Amino acid sequence: MAKKVIGGAVIGYGGMGGFHANKMQTVDGIRLVGVYDIDPERNKVARERGIKAYDSREELLADKDIDVVVVATPNDFHKEIVIDVLKAGKNAVSEKPVTLSCAELEEMIAASKKYGKLFTVHQNRRWDEDFLTVKKIVDDNVIGRVFRIESKVHGSHGIPEGWRQEKEHGGGMLLDWGVHLLDQMLTLMRGHKLVSVYATFTNITNKECDDGFTCICKFDNDVEWVVEVDTNNFISMPRWYVLGENGSAVVRDWDCSGEIVKVVNFEQYEIVPVHAGAGLTKTMAPRNEDTVKTFPIEKVEADWTEYYKNLIATINGEATIEVTHDQLRQSESLIEAIFRSVETNEVIKF
Ligand SMILES: NC(=O)c1ccc[n+]([C@@H]2O[C@H](COP(=O)([O-])OP(=O)(O)OC[C@H]3O[C@@H](n4cnc5c(N)ncnc54)[C@H](O)[C@@H]3O)[C@@H](O)[C@H]2O)c1
Repeated sequence: MAKKVIGGAVIGYGGMGGFHANKMQTVDGIRLVGVYDIDPERNKVARERGIKAYDSREELLADKDIDVVVVATPNDFHKEIVIDVLKAGKNAVSEKPVTLSCAELEEMIAASKKYGKLFTVHQNRRWDEDFLTVKKIVDDNVIGRVFRIESKVHGSHGIPEGWRQEKEHGGGMLLDWGVHLLDQMLTLMRGHKLVSVYATFTNITNKECDDGFTCICKFDNDVEWVVEVDTNNFISMPRWYVLGENGSAVVRDWDCSGEIVKVVNFEQYEIVPVHAGAGLTKTMAPRNEDTVKTFPIEKVEADWTEYYKNLIATINGEATIEVTHDQLRQSESLIEAIFRSVETNEVIKF
């Protein structure tokens, strides 16, 4: 018997809504039934592209051909629309950040249970090749026990125009790129307890919302993470910097350029002091070339459509969903702790 093709729809046909509509038109096992945007101009654009656009959310939710709805509106509308989708007896995928507080997330989870429908979030950056490349270096113990990971993204244009600059819509970089980087961190550290977080915000180009943040997270396996998003950097730091007991790795960009330097002999040579600034140092002297070896980064190839394949298989009862409610709870409580740390200038312990 031919497999059922799931009917998909998108609410919020902006940048990311367009991305989802396109994926539903190209990934096997799902088809795009239609879209709805509160802005009639966006519905017009959809129609010009040959896509059915509904005149209201209610009309879309009443369409029996739709099994799953992706909500790609500004962040403050996710909760209300996801609950409506579930209530209409359809599966719901929210764009990230899932919503704006732990309490709101619990309302969404409760609705999913009440109406017996799947509710998950588009954490697509779990399939980023740079992330999976670093994850493999850590998981395979390539540089020995890892004790520090720095994950940074740096831009130089401030916060993009529009709702992202406004607090009431869930603007700011923590709720934007931050959500992805923290989800990657929690994915890589799964099985280890987050012990504490300390965070600061920058407000260089935007006073209302953070236009950048830095947070330091400590885990119970003694791994420390520095996660940073900035939008006023005219020189970017490497995307990833990983320190292990037996080596260091740098992944400079999303293209996975970079290298791994492993120590061959830690102590077996006489260190020659070098001039450093106004003094001499042995501590910071470069290593003797015979004691280290440089290796290229082995890029992990990834296929982001795995996200949609998992979603479709889960709806068909053939898989379990990758992005779970407990993972969302963990991310959301970390985000709340980061806001608390910034407000109080204190380390928040879990
Ligand atoms: N996962 C990712 O990689 C990724 C990337 C970009 C954006 N996002 C997320 O996607 C969401 C949308 O971001 P975007 O960049 O596409 O924004 P956008 O401004 O380009 O699009 C949002 C659209 O939603 C519409 N809208 C607003 N309120 C609505 C409502 N109540 N009902 C229906 N439509 C409504 C707007 O008219 C607009 O067309 C955000 O939550 C954002 O965080 C995720």
